[in-house]
Amino acid sequence: MSMITMKNVYYQYPLEKEQVLKNINLSIEKGKVYGLVGHNDAGKTTLCNVIRGFIPSFYRGKLTGEIELDGKTIQEYSMGDLATRIGYSFQNPFTQISGVKETVFEEIAYGLENLGTAPEVIGEKVRELIAMFKLDALQEKNPFELSGGQKQRVALAAIIALDPEVIVIDEPTSQLDPQGTEEIFKIIDLMKKKGKTIILVEHKIDLIAAYVDEVIVMSQGEIKMIGKTSEVFTNKEVLTYGGQLPQVALLSLALQNAGITMPTIPITLVEAQQAIEKILSREV
Ligand SMILES: Nc1ncnc2c1ncn2[C@@H]1O[C@H](COP(=O)(O)OP(=O)(O)O)[C@@H](O)[C@H]1O
Ligand SMILES: [Mg+2]
Repeated sequence: MSMITMKNVYYQYPLEKEQVLKNINLSIEKGKVYGLVGHNDAGKTTLCNVIRGFIPSFYRGKLTGEIELDGKTIQEYSMGDLATRIGYSFQNPFTQISGVKETVFEEIAYGLENLGTAPEVIGEKVRELIAMFKLDALQEKNPFELSGGQKQRVALAAIIALDPEVIVIDEPTSQLDPQGTEEIFKIIDLMKKKGKTIILVEHKIDLIAAYVDEVIVMSQGEIKMIGKTSEVFTNKEVLTYGGQLPQVALLSLALQNAGITMPTIPITLVEAQQAIEKILSREV
C-alpha cells in the first residue's frame, strides 16, 4: 500500500530562477525503509520538506503536482496533523533542540506534553526511549551541553516518542562516530520492525546497503533511479549521477570485468563472503 505518492512534482524556492525539484514521481510503500541518496545540493532535503508539508507552507515558493499521504492529498491535512503523522529529524541537530527544556529527559518528553499525554505514560515512554538510545548517563544534562552526535540521538528519540507513522531522517549520522552510527541504524531497523515507513537521507553507502529496502537516487533535482537496494546498488549508472556504490559491489563489478564470473554482485560484506564461498567451492 502506498503511504506517500508524488506525481509530476516541481518546486521553485521564492526569488530563485531555477526549479530545485523537477518531475518527481514516486510511491513510498507503507512499512518500507527508503534510502535517499545523491550528491550535495541534489535536492534531498528539499524533497523531505515537501513530504512533511513545510514546502510550501513555511518556505513558500512555487510547488506544482500532486502529493498524497495515506490516500488523501496533502492539502487536506492541517500542519498539526502532518506533524503527528510524519516525524522529521533535521539535517542539523542544533536546530532540532527545543531550547525550552533544561534536561534531556524533559526534551524527549516535550512533544508528548504538548499532546496532553498523561504524566505517568510520558515517564514510562521516555524511560524506554532513554534506554533504547543509550542516553542514561545524559538524561539530566542540558540538551545544549551535548555534542552534535548526542543532540542527534536526543532529537531522534524525541521524534520517536510521538510514534509517527512516517519517519523522515535527514543525515542522522553526519556527526556520529562508527559506533554511534551503527546504533542509529539499529534503531531504524527496530522502527521498521514496528511497521514504520522510513525515509533516510544518508551518505554512508555500506550501511544503507545493509539496512534499507529501496534506494532513491537524486541528482540535480530529479529522481534518476528508484528500486530495490540490491538492484540499484549493483548498477554502475549510480556513479554517473555522482552517487556511490558499496565497496564490495564495486570490487565485484571489477572482478567481473576481469573475467571472474560472480554468482551475484554482493552489496554487503555478508553477501560478499557467501559469493566468495560459492566461487571457491566451484573451483576446488
Ligand atoms: N531555502 C532555500 N532557498 C533557496 N534555495 C535553496 C534553499 N534551500 C536549498 N536551496 C537550494 O536548493 C538546492 C537543493 O538543496 P537541498 O535540498 O538542500 O539539497 P541536498 O539536501 O541534496 O544537499 C541547492 O541548490 C540549494 O542551494
Ligand atoms: Mg540536505
